[in-house]
Amino acid sequence: MRDIVCNCQMVDRDTIDKAIHEKYATTIEEIRRYTGANTGCGKCMSYINSILDSEVPKVAAKKPEASNRFKLW
Ligand code: FES
Repeated sequence: MRDIVCNCQMVDRDTIDKAIHEKYATTIEEIRRYTGANTGCGKCMSYINSILDSEVPKVAAKKPEASNRFKLW
């Protein structure tokens, strides 16, 4: 069963998690941009913020740093 986070846009937890873990979304604005969630009534904001609070620290360790992208050696 899908865990719907945003009922207005029918965005589920999987979609939110992918935006955080694959697109490195760290803010509610980025979640809106990548998923469309929280672009209706706004009631899902606290749920999305709680997901960001729990998931973003997990991603921070594996996010590629800009300074490491073009290492020559
Ligand atoms: S439930 Fe997400 S904007 Fe309404």
